[in-house]
Order: sequence, then C-alpha cells, then structure tokens
Amino acid sequence: MKEVIIEDSLAICEELDRRMDHLVESYHDEWAEVVNDPEKRKKFKQFVNTDEIQERDEMIEFIDMRGQLRPADWPADGEPQTNWQAPKDDIFSKSEKKWIKVGKTSDFSKDSAGAILYGETQLAVFRNEKRGEWYCTQNMCPHKQAFVLSQGIVGDSNGTPKVACPLHKKNFDLKTGAELDGDLQIITFQVKIENDDVLVELPAVEEVDAILGTAGMRVQKSDCIDLAEDAIKVKPNRQSSTVLMAKPEKRQGGSSM
Ligand code: FES
Repeated sequence: MKEVIIEDSLAICEELDRRMDHLVESYHDEWAEVVNDPEKRKKFKQFVNTDEIQERDEMIEFIDMRGQLRPADWPADGEPQTNWQAPKDDIFSKSEKKWIKVGKTSDFSKDSAGAILYGETQLAVFRNEKRGEWYCTQNMCPHKQAFVLSQGIVGDSNGTPKVACPLHKKNFDLKTGAELDGDLQIITFQVKIENDDVLVELPAVEEVDAILGTAGMRVQKSDCIDLAEDAIKVKPNRQSSTVLMAKPEKRQGGSSM
C-alpha cells in the first residue's frame, strides 16, 4: 500500500498529474472568445437582421409574487386562451408583397434557424442544408404563444421538412405551417436566395404586424390561472381573432427594415 500510494509504484499519480496538466494547458474561456470576436458575437444576437431587441416584458407579462418577479403562467391546456389560432385560409393572399433582404446566407447556421424582426413581428428563417431549402415562418409557437420556433430543431419527418418547437416538441411542416399530428397552424412565407442574400417575400409591415405583431401576442396575467390566488382569471371575451387583427400599440424605436 505504501509503495502504491507514497512511492507511486504503479505510476497512478504520475498518470493523474499528466491528465491534470493536459486539462490546465488546454483550457480556454469559450465565452471570452465570443465576447472578443465580433463574428462569433453575431450568433448571439436576438435578431439576425437588426441590433434592435424586444425585451422579455414585451413577450410575456411579469408579475409580482411574494416580492419576486416571475412570468405570468401560461393558460392551462384546455382553457379558452390556450393555442393561438391562425387566420383561416391564406390571410395574405391578396396582399402586395415584396422581397425583403433579411441577411446573408452565412448569417444563418446550417440545419438551424435564426430569428428576424420585421416591424414588430418576429419571424424565423430556417436553413435545411440537407435538402438545400430555406423556409420562413412566424417565430411564435401557437401552443403557448412563446417566441421560440427559431430555436427549434430543424429536421425531416417522412420526407416532410419540419421544425420541432423547443418547449413541448410540437412539430410543424415548414412548407405549409400545419402541425404534424395536430391541428395547430403557423403562417409561412416564401424564401429565396440571390447570390448570398436571403430574401423573404413579405406583405407590408403594417399588415404583418396586425396579424403577428409581438404586442398582440404577449402572454398576460389576465389570460392565465393565477396560482397565487388559486382563481381562474381568464377573460372570456378576449377572442383570439380580435388579438389577431388588433393594431399593436406604437412602440419606441423604428422599423427594422
Ligand atoms: S410552446 Fe409548447 S410546443 Fe411550442
């Protein structure tokens, strides 16, 4: 025992020292590298196409609970405000559309997505490298009105290009916007690549904001079950369709385009 531990007759300590030296020598601060590299910092922007940001409070109401702030609860499944409903048919079929440049192809990671801001609306642009295809949808997942689809998992389901929402894994067809194995729906837009530019075909900002503007989608305490008071506070008259068409309040700051 003394030979093994004190004299290191089996060279175990020597091996451990060697491994520790390797760890110390090969350590690098990944976060410092990002902070110091403008190109890497771009990957952590909220929106690919602008430095403008939308604060968390613009997407979900924060409430005071015993002196601490926390997000308002989502409506429970089955409650009236659960699941945002997309307009029937193609709401923008008669709109005049333009191709809007939203970035360079290199701004979007392969087999991933990036969020873009159009007026007050968050959109998600997806790059499916395997299929050589690009897609654009609303960024808000209709399940809980969470602005997260650009952080979803891009993939394929029996030949259908899809995104899986990162929160509860609901899958959406990236071409049609239909939920796979469900009845939710998201709005999609056409994407094309010209040279290295990524262009999305979009109606006027005001039209898109009226349907998908963040202000109209914000999860509010009044939509939700108030756990603190153990009471349901859903406003029965707040209709999803009203929310869809509501003109969002004017915010500080200009358009992203
Ligand atoms: S928020 Fe629940 S699946 Fe997207």
